[in-house]
Amino acid sequence: MVVGSVLVTGGAGYIGSFTALALLEADYKVVIVDSLYNSSEEVVNRIELICGKRPDFYKLDITDEAALDKVFTDHPDIDNVIHFAALKAVGESGEIPLEYYRVNVGGSISLLRSMKKHNVTNVVFSSSATVYGDATRFPNMIPIPEHCPIGPTNPYGRTKSTIELVITDFIEAERNNAKKAGTSGDKWNGALLRYFNPCGAHPSGIMGENPLGVPYNLLPLLAQVAIGKREKLLVFGDDYKSKDGTAIRDYIHVLDLAKGHLVALNYLREHNPGVKAWNLGSGRGSTVFDMVKAFSKVVGHDLPYQVVDRRAGDVLDLTANPTLANQELKWKTKLTLEDACADLWKWTENNPEGYNQQPPKEFLAA
Ligand code: NAD
Ligand code: WQD
Repeated sequence: MVVGSVLVTGGAGYIGSFTALALLEADYKVVIVDSLYNSSEEVVNRIELICGKRPDFYKLDITDEAALDKVFTDHPDIDNVIHFAALKAVGESGEIPLEYYRVNVGGSISLLRSMKKHNVTNVVFSSSATVYGDATRFPNMIPIPEHCPIGPTNPYGRTKSTIELVITDFIEAERNNAKKAGTSGDKWNGALLRYFNPCGAHPSGIMGENPLGVPYNLLPLLAQVAIGKREKLLVFGDDYKSKDGTAIRDYIHVLDLAKGHLVALNYLREHNPGVKAWNLGSGRGSTVFDMVKAFSKVVGHDLPYQVVDRRAGDVLDLTANPTLANQELKWKTKLTLEDACADLWKWTENNPEGYNQQPPKEFLAA
């Protein structure tokens, strides 16, 4: 039985593809739209290999409202949207901010306009812990709760906090207008999911993060060191006020994160709450050295690293307080750092060229 139909923007990307898989496994129909700017269409095959169901796929740019309109027209059953499509490189956002605002903010506005035209009224949005900026500037805000004041420190983060405001203003207006007019438009709902540091891969070893170009995040870089594509990891600073001097983050397995999207969507559909923000994190902080140790353990030997200066814009501690999601969504992370490291290593060993190569033979035979 199909429980609903979801348009997943950016569904060929890392988190979007895992969420598309979780939705299909939960008997949702899935339509992916993605420009393939930072992804490969091969992921659609991998999703089908894992769950036996294939999402529909459209290559399009979310800033193209007419193209979005056509997808909604072709699929009148779509009743929800999960919105991942975005540019996400923090450093680059400082170099080409207009492009980040055009794609991230402009694309989100096109999407909301198109949803309104087609009466699709539930949207789950990929926000980010980055909207909090440096929460250590406040007393008692680590681990970070949702009511921590917003204060992103880079243009990428500001596009995310701006989209949160756009979604909030738009949905509040739609609900108020509908109440005044006595119509049924007060069914608009939005989930602002602020995720911490996603990592890991599918335990099958055939789906994982496949960034085009040079990775920016710690775990993909460590994986490149382990597979021999990179000589060593540069550790950005060991003079932070932490147990070993390196910065603290809340790493969350991408399978747990994907489930978080599913439960948030179900919550919107069941409770009609308007706009809600939830942190998706484990509540557990790990240092860079913790991660180097955990990954070295699954690889089976020490990985070379060198401590260098702090990276500009980095903060000491981004650890979530996930109590709200635990209580309201009945969602908690289940997988450990060790699971994430083991799954990432299996993916890396199986697919050193990411999706640019065939999946392992046992999957082709299936
Ligand atoms: P990703 O780059 O793997 O996925 C984003 C997808 O969007 C890609 O497939 C890309 O091709 C697509 N895309 C980009 N511009 C597009 C456009 N104009 N039209 C259509 N598609 C477009 O990144 P991800 O890590 O899976 O991130 C997904 C979302 O989660 C993003 O919104 C990101 O900002 C957010 N997020 C990511 C992290 C993280 O650390 N990975 C943390 C917090 C929030
Ligand atoms: C993690 C830790 C680094 C690389 C970023 C974005 C954030 C969100 C998640 C999208 C930090 C250290 C890293 C390296 C290192 N994305 N590090 N050497 O910076 O917490 O968050 O991704 O929303 O917005 O800013 O993640 O993986 O880059 O870094 O020492 O080569 O690893 O200093 O402490 P970050 P990250």
